[in-house]
Parts: sequence; structure tokens; C-alpha cells
Amino acid sequence: MRPQRRGLPLRIVAPPLLLITALLAAGCTQWADANLPQTTVFPKSDFNREIVSLYTLIFWMAVVVFVGVEGFLLYTIIRFRRRSDNQMPTQTHGNTRLEIAWTIIPSVVLLVIAVPTIPTVFSYDTIPANPAQRVQVIGHQWWWEFRYPDLGVSTANEFHLPLGQTVVFDLNSADVIHSFWVPQMGGKRDVVPERTNQLWFTPERTGEFPGQCVEFCGTQHAQMRLRLIVDTPEAFQSWVAQQRAPAAQATSAGAQLFQQSACPACHTIRGTAAHAEVGPDLTHIGSRKRIAADVLDNTPENLKRWIRDAQSVKVGVKMPSFPALTDSDADQLASYLQSLK
Ligand code: CUA
Repeated sequence: MRPQRRGLPLRIVAPPLLLITALLAAGCTQWADANLPQTTVFPKSDFNREIVSLYTLIFWMAVVVFVGVEGFLLYTIIRFRRRSDNQMPTQTHGNTRLEIAWTIIPSVVLLVIAVPTIPTVFSYDTIPANPAQRVQVIGHQWWWEFRYPDLGVSTANEFHLPLGQTVVFDLNSADVIHSFWVPQMGGKRDVVPERTNQLWFTPERTGEFPGQCVEFCGTQHAQMRLRLIVDTPEAFQSWVAQQRAPAAQATSAGAQLFQQSACPACHTIRGTAAHAEVGPDLTHIGSRKRIAADVLDNTPENLKRWIRDAQSVKVGVKMPSFPALTDSDADQLASYLQSLK
């Protein structure tokens, strides 16, 4: 008996499909400029823009494949279902035309993906020989050091780049394996001891872009954060000029206390006797927005808390706590450090 055609599968598939399409269409544009800290799909660099265009292509191809395959599956299930207890559905074995089709279609799909993907992969794997900016990134447990060898600038956790200028990063680690990632800029690259990995892109938007370590590297891996600030070229130049200058001369009680305490055993303040490189360079710490690897806002209270009891803020961090430090000494140290703009 020929099976009867009953009810279109479309009636079942259409409502959820329409809903999904409407949500997708409504959701995107207004977020395109938004600074969503962890987004990778609203690109702020050339590199991420190209990755996103590949991603978009593959996403829509996957939608077509998904809808096609699932639609065909539903159609088949419904159209050729068993309709009564004594009916046996038609049994078939092998179908050359179908088999050729489902060999050729995936090959074409893969080809369409490969053609734009391969040149992108190769072009971003080729490091520009003379980039406008060069930044050396050094991963430490658990903070980031940024050095600009051509500019004589060294900073920690928070770094600046000029808009529209290509930057090449040379990535190294001082201890274990870390991984460098600023989601909105794209890329994600391991930071390995005794080896230089590289990454490059050109920032296309000004603003602040959070990043973080993305390779488990010990207790405070999750709080090994960083912040990229993309400035206009003019603002970048003035930041560089400010960062190059040695620290302002200070004779305050806090400045003296800093030199007499344990601080110079780990930190540098250029223009003073402190020049150790265990912890972050503090020459211009007052100019940074955040402290403790982008974990606390850089306020006098937070700085004081960090100086006295870093261990309670970030358990296991290399910065010791100084419980014996008096409240007024901590105040003076914090206000001295805040003055280092
Ligand atoms: Cu460094 Cu995780």
C-alpha cells in the first residue's frame, strides 16, 4: 500500500526557525560597537575582523547544512513512517545517486571554507618585518610585563597602543607557560619560557580592551589579567613621553619609607635607587587605572590594602603581606606611589 501523505514537516520546523532567525537579526547591530569585555565577534582589530568574517561564513554555511540535514531527516521520518501495525515500510539498500551527492556536497562545503581560510592563516602567520610598534610581552606568575624596546618604556598589566598602527608582540615567559589574549583584538598565543612566540594586529578602535591569561599557570591564573588601551596617535605619544620620564623626585616620608623598606628588593622606580625586576616596574604606577594585574581599581585605599595584605587579595601571590606595617606608614607608601604619575 502506498503511504499517504499527511501534514507537512514544515509546520513543525517553521516556528522555532522563524524565532531563531528573528532573534539573530534583532540582536547584532546595536552591539557591534559595544565594548563587551570577552567578545570575539565584534572585532576591534584587522586580525579579529578577518577571523570574524571567516567565522560568519562558516556559521551561515553550518546553518544551511543544519537546516538542510535536519529538515530532510524530519521529512523522511514523517513521510516514510510506519502507518499501521501490519504495514512494513519499504526496505531499500544502497542508492548510488544519494551516495554520490553526500560525498560531493561536503567536499564542496569544505572547499568553500578552505579557500578563504588558508590565505588568512598564512597572512597572519607572516610577521611584518618593520611594524610601527613592537611590544615585548613577558608573562610572570601572575602579572604581565610590557616593554617597548624602541621607545624605552616598560610597564605592567596595563599597556597602550596607537590606533591604526601595526604592532608585533614578542611573547616570552619568565617562569611557566602562560597565554596572552585580548579577546576583542583576536589571537590567543601561548607565552612559553625560552621561546619567543609572536602575534600581530592593527587596532581599529580606540578604547579599553580587557585581556587575560588563558593557560593555567598556578593559583592566581584566573586573576592574571591585563588591559589594553588604544589611544589616538597623539594621545599615545604623550603617554610615551610621560612613561619615558624617570619618576618625579620626592623627599616625602613615603618616598623615604619605600627606599628603606623591602620594596626595592623586588621593584624598580626609575630615578631612584630601586631597580629590581622581580615585580612590576612602579615608576609610573600612579598613572595606571588598575593594580594587582587588573584586579583592583587604583585607589589609595586599594593600594594600601594591597601593600599591607596582598595575600588576602590574591592568595599565593609573590608579593608578601606586611602585617607589621603601621597604618600611617601604609598611608604614606600608598600616597607616594599614587603620586608617581
Ligand atoms: Cu598566566 Cu594563567
